[in-house]
Amino acid sequence: MLSVPHPYSLRSMTVADIPAVLTVDKLSFPSPATEQLFRNELIDNNLAHYQVLVRAAKTDEEIIGFAGFWNIADEIHVSTIAVHPDERGRGRGEWLLLNLLLEACRMSPLLVTLEVRHGNTTAQALYRKYRFEEVGLRRRYYRDTGEDAILMTVDFAAAPDYCDWLRGRAEQLRIQASDAV
Ligand SMILES: CC(C)(COP(=O)(O)OP(=O)(O)OC[C@H]1O[C@@H](n2cnc3c(N)ncnc32)[C@H](O)[C@@H]1OP(=O)(O)O)[C@@H](O)C(=O)NCCC(=O)NCCS
Repeated sequence: MLSVPHPYSLRSMTVADIPAVLTVDKLSFPSPATEQLFRNELIDNNLAHYQVLVRAAKTDEEIIGFAGFWNIADEIHVSTIAVHPDERGRGRGEWLLLNLLLEACRMSPLLVTLEVRHGNTTAQALYRKYRFEEVGLRRRYYRDTGEDAILMTVDFAAAPDYCDWLRGRAEQLRIQASDAV
């Protein structure tokens, strides 16, 4: 996990985090996830890896963002990423994505994939910043709004330096990559 500056930290998501994660999820997506979905992901899905970004408070901590991916054979699929609206635009989403991608690098993937809503230009900008390229469109992919999904990928064959580049980004942002999971 990346070590981000105090009072923030990144760690693996646990079942106890689900209520706070759902609060952020509800503020972030048109069709919020359910408790059962996250329970299934954390308990039953061995391919799933979820992280939370927390901010330490006086006696407790507050979850301000989360991200997740599936490790399917040689492919890493980004399943979700969200930051609490009050914390957006301050680099927190970038921390979460960079951390996710560095975790993914440990699994030596050939491809990182994700879908993003056609109208979600903010997330698309974040992904482009992290060298994702648009490779396809899934028409009417989102059942709630009927919106198309843009399929974006990082192809490691075309970007063999990608994980080193990510480590360089972490250095530029002055956040450290450590081997502790
Ligand atoms: C997408 C999301 C996670 C980004 O988190 P964030 O903390 O606001 O983003 P950051 O401050 O780390 O910004 C990182 C990059 O994202 C892009 N970005 C962030 N806010 C943006 C905005 N308002 N407009 C355009 N691009 C923006 C930029 O590329 C930015 O890099 P820059 O600062 O060098 O320009 C956040 O907006 C969110 O939770 N959205 C709702 C959930 C969602 O859409 N998830 C993605 C599903 S595919």
